[in-house]
Amino acid sequence: MSDINNVLSIKKLSKTFSQGDEKLKVLDNLNLDVKAGEFVAVMGASGSGKSTLLHLIAGLLKGDNGSEIELSGNNYSNFSDKALTKHRLENIGLIFQNYNLVRSLDITENIRLPLLLSSKKAKQDNIDKYIDDLGLSERRNHLPRQLSGGEQQRVAIARAIIGEPELILADEPTGNLDLNSGNHICELLRSIADKRKQTIIMVTHAPHVAFYADRIIMLSQGNIATDMQKSEFADSGALSKHYQDILQQQLNG
Ligand SMILES: Nc1ncnc2c1ncn2[C@@H]1O[C@H](COP(=O)(O)OP(=O)(O)OP(=O)(O)O)[C@@H](O)[C@H]1O
Ligand SMILES: [Mg+2]
Repeated sequence: MSDINNVLSIKKLSKTFSQGDEKLKVLDNLNLDVKAGEFVAVMGASGSGKSTLLHLIAGLLKGDNGSEIELSGNNYSNFSDKALTKHRLENIGLIFQNYNLVRSLDITENIRLPLLLSSKKAKQDNIDKYIDDLGLSERRNHLPRQLSGGEQQRVAIARAIIGEPELILADEPTGNLDLNSGNHICELLRSIADKRKQTIIMVTHAPHVAFYADRIIMLSQGNIATDMQKSEFADSGALSKHYQDILQQQLNG
């Protein structure tokens, strides 16, 4: 019986990519529990499997045989593809690097889209609030192609959080943003975790971004190398130093 405080429970998660005869084991027997309302940062060298992990948690990829992922007590292996899609739409907000905005819809319509697809009620007030909060007021009736990369990123963030999903997965959400806009996004995610008890798993390479989280996980060699509370680091400089050590370990691996 899994712990009811865990919104996410991952057991023996492995992922092998096959290309012809070559097999690449990206994740190897990884276990991870995340509590409701926890804000977790995932760090690790390029290629260490961070995006793969988020895709598996989102149910966009399937793990190797024997892998188990349970979100709010629902084991993915019990779902058909269709049921998994519905589950994702209703419970997970995705902030991924290819923004996947619908080209023919304006910004307001793009943000409202997940609410229309699921049965959740769209409150115009809420949508307006997010648009203002993310500095997109002047852009609300623009199409995605009329926006900069950073603006599109902010629309993707609004879209992911509007339905108040219990789990938000963010893959380098500040990757295309300048320092100020990036910090603003981090503060927004922090307040979502604090006020709404939504759970956030965020991949980042930047120690000052990871420092907004409660808990920092480092991936190396297909598994979790360290899993620490933010409070264990004196400051983001100490976190940065630790991250360098992990990167070095992966290089030596
Ligand atoms: N669909 C795929 N087919 C084959 N190999 C893949 C596939 N997706 C990812 N990989 C490989 O798996 C490894 C992990 O990729 P992943 O994208 O998860 O890394 P990452 O930690 O997110 O890296 P980055 O920091 O550069 O975004 C890489 O070596 C990548 O080439
Ligand atoms: Mg990645």
